[in-house]
Amino acid sequence: MREFSKAFLWGAAASAPQTEGHSLENGKSASTWDEWFKLAPEKFNEQQGPSDTSNVYEEYSKDIQRMKELGMNSYRTSIAWTRLLPDGRTVNPEGTAFYKAYFSELKANGVEPIINLFHFDLPWWLMEKGGWEIRESVEAFAFYAKTAFELFGDTVKYWTTFNEPLVHIECGYLYGFHYPAIVDFKKAVQVGYHTLMAHVRAVEEFRKLQIENGQIGIILNISPAYPKSQSSEDLKAKELADLFNTNSFLDPAVHGEIPEKLITVLKEHELTPVTETQDKELIRQNTVDFIGLNYYQPRRVQAPTTVHFPAEMPSDFYIPYDMPGKRINPYRGWEIYPEALYDVAVMMKEQYRNIPWYVSENGMGVAEEERFMDEQGMIQDDYRIEFMKEHLRELHRGIAEGSNCFGYHTWTFVDCWSWLNGYRNRYGFYRVDLDNHFERSLKKSGLWYKELIEKNGFLD
Ligand code: BG6
Repeated sequence: MREFSKAFLWGAAASAPQTEGHSLENGKSASTWDEWFKLAPEKFNEQQGPSDTSNVYEEYSKDIQRMKELGMNSYRTSIAWTRLLPDGRTVNPEGTAFYKAYFSELKANGVEPIINLFHFDLPWWLMEKGGWEIRESVEAFAFYAKTAFELFGDTVKYWTTFNEPLVHIECGYLYGFHYPAIVDFKKAVQVGYHTLMAHVRAVEEFRKLQIENGQIGIILNISPAYPKSQSSEDLKAKELADLFNTNSFLDPAVHGEIPEKLITVLKEHELTPVTETQDKELIRQNTVDFIGLNYYQPRRVQAPTTVHFPAEMPSDFYIPYDMPGKRINPYRGWEIYPEALYDVAVMMKEQYRNIPWYVSENGMGVAEEERFMDEQGMIQDDYRIEFMKEHLRELHRGIAEGSNCFGYHTWTFVDCWSWLNGYRNRYGFYRVDLDNHFERSLKKSGLWYKELIEKNGFLD
């Protein structure tokens, strides 16, 4: 039996833009997703946009009962900045009432809300001014964060500032996947820097309010780098991949410092962002209470064959290595490598002062899951159960060695809309009926999760 600690958090994660619906209604203003969908619907799988979600705006009460039924003791979702403060300054009463009711009901049903402030959804009014490229975004975010803490801090005790900040940086400014789909390394670094400062300022606002028992963290996507070989070139590629993708946010969040090495590399390549004099001190003073890590896949890397100087893209530092024989989730194209979760647990213990952390996302996206539906209408997603088991086994090993992990959340509870992928890949314990997004049905993995929570572990 692999048992977890008594207070271990079991739950699932989602986000406001991917679940709420009513994307341009009830006082909400447009985010980059709403506008991008208007501008280029063909980019979105089956032209499903941000209004086509799982209707949590109406369904949250019933969904909370479903969470309770599975025994979940925690749930992470986010606030939509554009719903709470449609113009960035004025509180939307309808949005406030919705979130108040939603969070209180989670709490009343024994499901601890972990509330995140930003999940890729920048307000359009801010984007039009330059978004994260401009310093104004830092103070705009700090104001939004402060407003949210003041409004909901009596109910919500666990807060996080950003979900996967690397995503809006690299998808928006390096690889063309998200709006504004610019390819510009220098801008990407500036966007990253402002995001970090926005996080830090939000933590500062949080500390000022002294919310009773309140804790604040950040959620980072973690794909630990593994080198192709032990050659010095490949090892350097691994080091740089971790520097840009892992240490860049983890170091300031936990240790209060941007890694010196990163500062040097950026300088060498003329990528240094514009900063302000007080920033260093602000970063130093505003570290977090806990970390959330989203783990899906490792990052296999090797040394680049041709490089530009100064660097034009991260591929001037490291390139992907397509390792023969790796296990793959064919629907998502992601490698399955549970062992990395053990490595992450050890890294948190040894390199990040064993700060409390939790697995804030882990899961398996599978397309056309209706194929696996049995006669009773239940999706037999044994592959997902196996995936979770394998990852929990490795996590458990890390915890047994002293890593301070306090919970495990899957992505996700109810199948949800996922950006450009729409509903292509399903991740939920509950299936959403694509012909009627109000309809949900439990999958086999949901039953397995319920049993896991009941036993606080699993037989191995
Ligand atoms: C995570 C994000 O990285 O991956 C979620 O936080 C996203 O927002 C999830 O939905 C799954 O991504 P996808 O593209 O496979 O649906």
